[in-house]
Amino acid sequence: MAKTKTSFFCQNCGSQYAKWMGQCKSCNEWNTIVEEVIQKEEKRNWKQTTSTKKANKALKINEISLDKEDRISTRNNELNRVLGGGIVRGSMLLLGGEPGIGKSTLLLQIALNIPKKVLYVSGEESQSQIKMRAERLQIANTNCLILTETNTQNIFRAIEEVQPDVVVIDSIQTLHTEYIEASPGSISQIRETTAELTKFAKETATPVLLIGHITKDGNIAGPKILEHMVDVVLQFEGDRNHTYRILRANKNRFGSTAELGIYEMQSIGLREVDNPSEILISQKEDDLSGTAIAATLEGMRPLMIEVQALVSTAVYGTPQRSATGYDLKRLNMLLAVLEKRAGFRLGAKDVFLNIAGGIKVDDPAIDLAVISAILSSNEDEAIPQDYCFAAEIGLAGEIRPVNRVEQRILEAEKLGFNKIFISKFNKISNTNHTIKIVKVTKVDDIYANLF
Ligand code: TYD
Ligand code: MG
Repeated sequence: MAKTKTSFFCQNCGSQYAKWMGQCKSCNEWNTIVEEVIQKEEKRNWKQTTSTKKANKALKINEISLDKEDRISTRNNELNRVLGGGIVRGSMLLLGGEPGIGKSTLLLQIALNIPKKVLYVSGEESQSQIKMRAERLQIANTNCLILTETNTQNIFRAIEEVQPDVVVIDSIQTLHTEYIEASPGSISQIRETTAELTKFAKETATPVLLIGHITKDGNIAGPKILEHMVDVVLQFEGDRNHTYRILRANKNRFGSTAELGIYEMQSIGLREVDNPSEILISQKEDDLSGTAIAATLEGMRPLMIEVQALVSTAVYGTPQRSATGYDLKRLNMLLAVLEKRAGFRLGAKDVFLNIAGGIKVDDPAIDLAVISAILSSNEDEAIPQDYCFAAEIGLAGEIRPVNRVEQRILEAEKLGFNKIFISKFNKISNTNHTIKIVKVTKVDDIYANLF
């Protein structure tokens, strides 16, 4: 009987200590260090028979052969775009997201659609529950096998039997390995099971898709090293009250992290949204004050987004500021710019900002639409529905140029907008646009142009 060994792990960053401490030395968090039982036995391996003693040989970069089929297309355009063309063979992919956002639905849908043999391992639901979900998705498939198991050694046994091309694990927090005694979901279990799966993925060139839970503050539960161990970290997010879901890559060793996938949760699963602009602009009959459309870019894709603002006299002494889908600090900054550089008295007003569709945007080009929406609400005068905006605002109240403005203009034109406001410093080479391009330099200019 091997001796039981324990060690102390920080539940926040995964650092290991020999004794308990109140504060983690590495991430400075308090009360995060927990004792976990670890028990080392003989050499661990994902498959006991394979020897890993063989050392790798260094090769010149031009001697390394690239397999033609090194990416597996998922038959899902949104996911392919986010991944940069498909799942790379032998890669480890981690999909994180809040409970109930649709992680299991997305990966089951991919597993059923992919023209490869897939082993879907679930530690969360029973086979019949998964079957029920698959029936809702209405995808006929005979190439996807479902296994309910949480022990990695048993999973590897099943893998040897089934010989899948892709493995899906729902979720990493439910797995445990026999070589460690800590409970499933603990730092050491997550680290060990991920290490075993990584070894398997690299040695057999089989991609492994992991589902990971996220904590309240939005991080993937488990040690930060989990994110370092995998090749791709995807984040599935969205507002629970809306049906739109956004898939982003937080890390991607094989592609850009700027791309974005958009889905809509329907009763028959997640539908890919390939014309997001048309959906994100709410359809309304009358002109309403306080709304402005921003021509933003997410990755390579233009996205027209509606910004809504409500400015009203503050009821309480301190005015309230709230922003949904937009950085509150940035909103406060823009309000300060309006106050200081353009003399708008917004200091005693409540300001509420909302990005339609429950979408979060990082593109600074949305600034001009935010300011316009605020001014429109403050004046109680509507901005015509065929106007849109694409520019960043600087601290001096200057309107700054944005990247790939031509692409934004083309999208606006395609969707039938008649006027787009951009910075004077954005150079435009094509002069044949039917849309009217208005160039502005300062915040006051935009006010003069609109009202
Ligand atoms: P799920 O994939 O179980 O979420 P996660 O694995 O991230 O916890 O998704 C659960 C939600 O999705 C649930 O609230 C119901 C909804 N849903 C649909 O609206 N349509 C569907 O076809 C399916 C399968 C789920
Ligand atoms: Mg799930």
